[in-house]
Amino acid sequence: MKVCVLPGDGIGPEIVAEAVRVLEALRSDGLALEMETAQLGGSAFDVSGSPYPEATQKLARAADAVLLGAVGGPQWDALPRPLRPERGLLGIRKDLGLFANLRPALLFPELAHASSLKPEIVSGLDILIVRELTGDIYFGEPRGIEVRDGQRVGWNTMIYSESEIRRIAKVGFDAARRRNRRLCSIDKMNVLETTQLWRDVVTEVSADYPDVELSHMLVDNAAMQLVRAPKQFDVLLTGNIFGDILSDEAAMLTGSIGMLASASLDANNKGLYEPSHGSAPDIAGKDIANPLATILSAAMMLRYSFDNEEAALRIENAVKSVLAQGLRTADIWEAGKRRVSTHEMGNAVIAAL
Ligand code: NAD
Ligand code: IPM
Ligand code: MN
Repeated sequence: MKVCVLPGDGIGPEIVAEAVRVLEALRSDGLALEMETAQLGGSAFDVSGSPYPEATQKLARAADAVLLGAVGGPQWDALPRPLRPERGLLGIRKDLGLFANLRPALLFPELAHASSLKPEIVSGLDILIVRELTGDIYFGEPRGIEVRDGQRVGWNTMIYSESEIRRIAKVGFDAARRRNRRLCSIDKMNVLETTQLWRDVVTEVSADYPDVELSHMLVDNAAMQLVRAPKQFDVLLTGNIFGDILSDEAAMLTGSIGMLASASLDANNKGLYEPSHGSAPDIAGKDIANPLATILSAAMMLRYSFDNEEAALRIENAVKSVLAQGLRTADIWEAGKRRVSTHEMGNAVIAAL
């Protein structure tokens, strides 16, 4: 199994280093895994002038899976849009056809008090956001900023084809089938035609899944329901931009954005695995970032791309055990618990494997 490792920018290299050490520990126990590192994002731009350089493209295409930290940072914010670090990330998602983004918001019981919501609202929370990742307003053309009638206007295009909706809907229904058989599809059909089509196609696909209960919800209500009563959801099916926003919101239900893992899959389960959070420039270089979302993303990689449920569970159980021991990075710390650094958290997970 070949893994392309892309540390990226900001806290990316710090958190990826810990996930790589966890994988190395499993390798010394017999997991057959090769890792090779390349650059993506701002750090790639700095050395090669491109946020998704050719060498990275080659390595990522040849690998069985990609493990990514995060990209972006204020030092690259003034760059022309095609050179921005985020374009590197969008580029690799599109290039590898990673249309299905799975973001499981799972609350470890030990973190019930780290959530900003009352423990009784979030305890036992286990929802899965299935987000479409290679379409929508993120990629729609035309787009731009130009002067019209003496003033600047900016515009983007929100667009989905029925085949794009159908394939992500199937991923959502299949996931619901392996869980609690409830799928809530999110749209804004009261205003946007694209999402009227979304609702129509999802409803058509549901005919093949009579065993899954389908509901529809407008995105503004969904944002509210996620903090009012999040446990009403099982699988949430969303387009690209709604899923981006709702998954950060769901992350906070789990205690911290530093806990939310993700898998971005193509049609054959080749995948890119990354935490749902960004490069956190405000805490980069301080050894305080939470590496658990990245470590849990590595577990998702073993499950989805390498079909190795046993190794995935070993990592997930190690994370549970470390939390049960009372170890906490700053973002999930509370009185009475032991505060640890990024690197110490990695050590603890490895010891618990
Ligand atoms: P962010 O997710 O980087 O940070 C938001 C807040 O959460 C910050 O206070 C940060 O310190 C905290 N945080 C994030 N991850 C954490 C972790 N593992 N442990 C502890 N705290 C953590 O979002 P932002 O500040 O809006 O964006 C910063 C940069 O990251 C931008 O350039 C943005 O484009 C980029 N970004 C990249 C990705 C990605 O690579 N997948 C995702 C989101 C944002
Ligand atoms: C994410 C990020 C990315 C997105 C950005 C950095 C392009 O926010 O992975 O959630 O919007 O998809
Ligand atoms: Mn996001």
